[in-house]
Amino acid sequence: MEDRLHALARRHQRARLGGGPERVERQHKSGKLTARERLEILLDDGSFVELDPFVVHRTTDFPLEKIPGDGVVTGYGQIWGRRVYVFAQDFTVFGGSLSEAHAEKICKIMDLAVKSGVPIVGLNDSGGARIQEGVVSLGGYAEIFLRNVLASGVIPQISAILGPCAGGAVYSPAITDFILMVQHTSYMYVTGPKVVKTVTHEDVTHETLGGADVHGQKSGVAHFVEPDEVSCLERIRALLSYLPQNNREQPPRTPCDDPPHRTDPELNEIIPEESTKPYDITEIIRRVVDDGVFLEVHRGWAQNIVVGFARLDGRSVGIVANQPAHLAGVLDINASVKAARFVRFCDCFNIPLITFVDVPGFLPGTDQEWNGIIRHGSKLLYAFAEATVPKVTVIVRKAYGGAYDVMSSKHIRGDFNFAWPTAEIAVMGPQGAVEIIYRKEIEQASNPQELEEKLVREYIERFANPYSAAERGYIDDVIEPAQTRPILIKSLEMLETKRDTNPWRKHGNIPL
Ligand code: HXC
Repeated sequence: MEDRLHALARRHQRARLGGGPERVERQHKSGKLTARERLEILLDDGSFVELDPFVVHRTTDFPLEKIPGDGVVTGYGQIWGRRVYVFAQDFTVFGGSLSEAHAEKICKIMDLAVKSGVPIVGLNDSGGARIQEGVVSLGGYAEIFLRNVLASGVIPQISAILGPCAGGAVYSPAITDFILMVQHTSYMYVTGPKVVKTVTHEDVTHETLGGADVHGQKSGVAHFVEPDEVSCLERIRALLSYLPQNNREQPPRTPCDDPPHRTDPELNEIIPEESTKPYDITEIIRRVVDDGVFLEVHRGWAQNIVVGFARLDGRSVGIVANQPAHLAGVLDINASVKAARFVRFCDCFNIPLITFVDVPGFLPGTDQEWNGIIRHGSKLLYAFAEATVPKVTVIVRKAYGGAYDVMSSKHIRGDFNFAWPTAEIAVMGPQGAVEIIYRKEIEQASNPQELEEKLVREYIERFANPYSAAERGYIDDVIEPAQTRPILIKSLEMLETKRDTNPWRKHGNIPL
């Protein structure tokens, strides 16, 4: 028996070596950690249990060394004491490329994760399809894609990109709920710089084509951009702390030292007197939520809307808020798509939605119209309307036009809708409204400017306030801003047992 145990230990040791010391050194020199080092940081100390360490490839067409594990470390462990399945591609073994066996290892833990209702985290660092295996490798990718789709909305799926992720391989992370990238060491693209040069004659590098900043700011592919791998792995831990294990569970509730009745008089002064003046909506969010902690998602992209996770009296909430500090908080294509996906994620996983509204409307212009603001703006409307989680809305300033309806209004099943006294809820802004309804009178006036200013003042007094909406019950109350935190917490308490359903259907047809 002793011999057998020695042999087993030797095999385990060989598996842990990955591609060997030289390749590990190359990995470190390129500013990257190995798959196992990453798992150590990601998971609670000593909690990792590996599966399939002895799996090897089955390639016969090429004389390819058989390295145990075949370029991916898979298994399970714990994060904050909660179970999680993980895979980490090992770039030191055939560049982390995906063989049939490598794909099977990933599929095995995906199946286990779905069956047991446990989140899955994938650490991607791969040269793509294992070239020596050809179509078999493509089949392996498709098996993973299928599982990503079937797991969507059932368990949280998180992808970190910690090296190359190219070609069709990008579509597995793309289907998962969150993508995290690391600056300067990770990149994602469907076709690489060489093909781009041939087809479009553009000169691009990995970084300028698909680096972390590109996807964090321009494409919106990456939800989080981190300066290094350690902060990326810690971000995953933080993110999971807000999420339930699966779609049948409630998100975890954590002990909270921040008093639920805490008021904040500064909030009474936070909205500028002048209605067109910008301010930072994240300051309102931080003043309201537990301990001022707000985990912002998609921070660098579509900054005219802010989305992210926070806690209120220990309960996880998803926050959606127009950002007046950027493009006046207008809704455009990217903002609509960003918020719609976030709202749908929260609804999948029973995370209540808190919406702060300060929106002048949808962004006008040919660029927006030709690129389909109608199609994309409707995604946000659809997402808020179909969501059955508790929905609480606070209109802090502007709520104009269709954007009023879209931003989780009472009419699309907002549960509690409040307004601050600074709210302006109307069909359009005062200037625009006056120019349309009094066009003739203004044209014919002896002093058109004076008349227009007078009419705008009158319009503001009559309509740019929360009371017309409050008279009809479109908002449930006009509240003192300082009271926002206790009121939101009470609302969530009252909605704790909320049950709402949508009509039976195979699935809705969200305008994609
Ligand atoms: C087999 C691969 C590989 C691959 C890398 N390697 N990619 N082996 N299949 N796809 C191996 C290399 O031979 C090398 O082996 C080791 O991994 C490290 O690679 P290097 O090139 O030395 O590393 P680096 O200079 O960092 O460059 C990384 C890279 C480059 C940019 C990813 O390796 C590369 O261009 N690889 C090919 C990428 C590719 O075209 N993949 C197929 C895409 S199509 P040794 O033994 O020297 O350590 C695809 C379709 C998916 O993925 C479709 C899904 C539907």
